[in-house]
Amino acid sequence: VSGPLVDPFDRTVRYLRMSVTDRCDLRCVYCMAEEMTFLPRSEVLSIEEFVRTARVFAGLGVNKIRLTGGEPLVRQGIVTLVEKLAALEGIDELCMTTNGTRLDQFAAPLKQAGLDRLNISLDTLNAERFRALTRFGDLRKVLDGIQAAQQAGFARIKINCVALKHRNADEAKDLVRFALERGLDISFIEEMPLGKIDSHGRAAEFVSSAELREQIAGEFTLVASAAQSGGPARYWSSPGYDSRIGFISPHSQNFCASCNRVRLTATGRLLLCLGQEHSRDLRQVLRNHADDRYLQQAIREAVAIKPREHTFDLSADEPQIVRFMNATGG
Ligand code: GTP
Ligand code: 5AD
Ligand code: SF4
Repeated sequence: VSGPLVDPFDRTVRYLRMSVTDRCDLRCVYCMAEEMTFLPRSEVLSIEEFVRTARVFAGLGVNKIRLTGGEPLVRQGIVTLVEKLAALEGIDELCMTTNGTRLDQFAAPLKQAGLDRLNISLDTLNAERFRALTRFGDLRKVLDGIQAAQQAGFARIKINCVALKHRNADEAKDLVRFALERGLDISFIEEMPLGKIDSHGRAAEFVSSAELREQIAGEFTLVASAAQSGGPARYWSSPGYDSRIGFISPHSQNFCASCNRVRLTATGRLLLCLGQEHSRDLRQVLRNHADDRYLQQAIREAVAIKPREHTFDLSADEPQIVRFMNATGG
């Protein structure tokens, strides 16, 4: 059978997220445990394997690819990968989600290689809080990275902010001001319970998108917007500014009904939902068969088991999903 990838709930998959490494130069408390072991290199897909997989997905109707990690910019060969993916027929939008620490060095080469969009994580504007949240990060590097990305000519750069009640939620207004003044988009994200972390209780840190909006509305007029980025965010705007203010609310406003994406882990496992374990190993198919038809077949079979939705439960004592966010790329 040919045609696009349609799942059992009549949703068409057009967005592929590829985690190119599980490694990262930070240890954000909501993403990783303090002590982590990383994958041996032989288990991680090669640049050629990522390109081949992406090409097959493009042939099945995927038109948007986002590179994630871990931190994608610690992956050897990342600029080459971007160049090759940008050249693929059918890929209209090639994006990356990064922690921003290496953008001062990478922004210009990535732009040159054909990357279309950047989402950059920034949870706080306070250097001490930043260090605590990332366990050893330097806020200055990320701020310089954002500036480098703007100078390199990236448009519609988006700041991602995971909101935690006792660490940064009181800064929502300041982060919005930071974004609006610089012409950046910004999205606030409700934390998702992936992996067992010991830094905080997920439920104790929960803050809803509605609470953040209320805080922001104390300083900026917010108008609901019809803008869409192809991801799960719902957007607002503020009169006089070009920026979009997004909210990703897996707990308070489920968006699964319009899900259009699947995820490839760094080891070539295709995950059908961020919040479920349904998956299919594509690495074995890639390494055992030179003929792309096997890969197409495996991808179609995988999409046929895409679950309806996540069932995140913040009050559960043990996480339902043991894999950490860095293995999944968010
Ligand atoms: P845009 O293309 O700008 O819309 O990006 P995006 O929001 O799709 O990607 P990004 O990597 O910036 O992710 C932002 C947040 O959204 C992260 O916390 C992701 O984990 C979360 N996210 C993205 N897709 C899904 C999804 O399908 N389900 C859930 N639960 N969260 C998602
Ligand atoms: N819940 C929600 N978002 C998360 N991210 C990382 N871990 C989590 C989590 N547990 C975010 C990062 C990055 C994006 C890819 O996912 O901050 O912006
Ligand atoms: Fe690294 Fe991103 Fe995870 Fe933070 S959220 S530890 S920056 S992979």
